[in-house]
Amino acid sequence: MSLLLDEIALAAARLAEAGVESPRAEAELIAAHVHGVRRTELQAVPDAAFDARFWEGVGRRAAREPLQHITGRAYFRYLELEVGPGVFVPRPETEVMTGWAIDRLRAMDVAEPVVVDLGTGSGAIALSIAQEVPRGRVHAVEADPIARGWTERNVERCAVAAPYTKGRVSLYGADFTAGLTAAPGTGELRELDGKVDLVISNPPYIPLGASVPPEVGEYDPPAALWSGEDGLDAIRGVERAARRLLRPGGLIAVEHGAPQGAAVYWVFCEEAGWRDTRNHKDLARRDRFVTATWPGE
Ligand SMILES: C[S@@+](CC[C@H](N)C(=O)[O-])C[C@H]1O[C@@H](n2cnc3c(N)ncnc32)[C@H](O)[C@@H]1O
Repeated sequence: MSLLLDEIALAAARLAEAGVESPRAEAELIAAHVHGVRRTELQAVPDAAFDARFWEGVGRRAAREPLQHITGRAYFRYLELEVGPGVFVPRPETEVMTGWAIDRLRAMDVAEPVVVDLGTGSGAIALSIAQEVPRGRVHAVEADPIARGWTERNVERCAVAAPYTKGRVSLYGADFTAGLTAAPGTGELRELDGKVDLVISNPPYIPLGASVPPEVGEYDPPAALWSGEDGLDAIRGVERAARRLLRPGGLIAVEHGAPQGAAVYWVFCEEAGWRDTRNHKDLARRDRFVTATWPGE
């Protein structure tokens, strides 16, 4: 055994005691980050190279700071994103909805599909679509200026890693529950009314007063989490924005909390003017997103 592997075993025990769900994996990821190696290369780190900053990272994680804030990175589909204070850490559940949208966009008989991502945060959904739907044009909306700073960094980062995404993601400082009026200098969304092929959103959806783990409640920005008494305020705002933006036959995909499948179905039901409304599950087989078509075709 190497010194580093011994320290990782001790750190994993400390993280387990602190209530971290995957303590060994997270201890290894902190060690890999601090030593600048892949997780599979940890056993090759010489004892003399052991870096005591490992224990600083373990201490932060034991205090329930998210791993992604400690490493400064989050992985989402084929993207490596910069994250930290003031931006929501993208989650694996959202990868499933994004994959659904990518499949539908690729199958569309449209030369350059137009997409709007409402509440883009780090840009995880918008940039995945730009990366995986090479002729897609993505308009990303984010109300919070601090979160927008992170989006901008990730848009630039992605343009370096995947140059064909350059110029295909536009960012707007706007509130999708308040008519999508963009802040000065951030572009005009009105031009998109009735022209959008797909609207996608992972909006805030936690009911006020619900209990959440410390990683969420203390580190994800409040604007990314809370959404009124029933958690559906922002989703109703997404519905209003989508009916304005979508062309006839355009699609909506919206993420929600596991217990909200039926309620969100009714927000997008036939009686409200939508068709083909469907509930979808995440990888843990929990209700996770709703899709529907704006009629007219
Ligand atoms: C749950 S986070 C999702 C971020 C990203 N799309 C993802 O999936 O990782 C929701 C985001 O929506 C933004 N947001 C919340 N309400 C908004 C509104 N009314 N208008 C625009 N953005 C909003 C928040 O600031 C936050 O960045």
